[in-house]
Amino acid sequence: MVQIAVFVGTRGRGSNLRAIHDACSRGEVPARVTLVVGTRPDSGAIEWAREAGLPTVVVEPGDGYGPRLLDALKQAGVEWICLAGYLRLLPAEVLQAFPNKVLNIHPALLPKHGGKGMYGMHVHEAVLAAGDEESGCTVHYVTERYDEGAPILQMRCPVLPGETPEALAARVIVLEHQAYPEALRRVLQ
Ligand code: GRF
Repeated sequence: MVQIAVFVGTRGRGSNLRAIHDACSRGEVPARVTLVVGTRPDSGAIEWAREAGLPTVVVEPGDGYGPRLLDALKQAGVEWICLAGYLRLLPAEVLQAFPNKVLNIHPALLPKHGGKGMYGMHVHEAVLAAGDEESGCTVHYVTERYDEGAPILQMRCPVLPGETPEALAARVIVLEHQAYPEALRRVLQ
């Protein structure tokens, strides 16, 4: 079993964390969520993880953030990292310690609609403003730049006429929950 850490965001619901954890529990992905990493103790995702009995650690950004993160990951024996709602750039020392072993999911078809500031509803608003006929999600490798690593898997859906960003988000998140475990299964095979 590969030991993975899932990094969650301050505003995240943790729904991708749940999808990954469930797929691992069902034996569909040869991995185990060894650690859930957050930046704040009161995020929904961290609270859910605690209730689910998953090991959690909150590492608050600031002085020595990279070394503190690395310490927590090493102590837990983490081998791969999945970012799920984590909005920061990972510190360089963490990326160097996990070469080609960090994944992220983005709620659009990269390279479109990615980069700094493109998260949450901003992404779906941009897709609609661009008049795109389709959207979806992208699971990709993480580099030192936002949303630029090689894609692993994309799942697509049509953009419906007159749809709101919220409606599009609700359809894309369903794809995300299929795409993330499937991408993880592929890279671990
Ligand atoms: C997802 O839409 C993901 O694409 C983005 O952040 C959101 C996290 O949602 N990176 P959740 O916390 O997994 O529900």
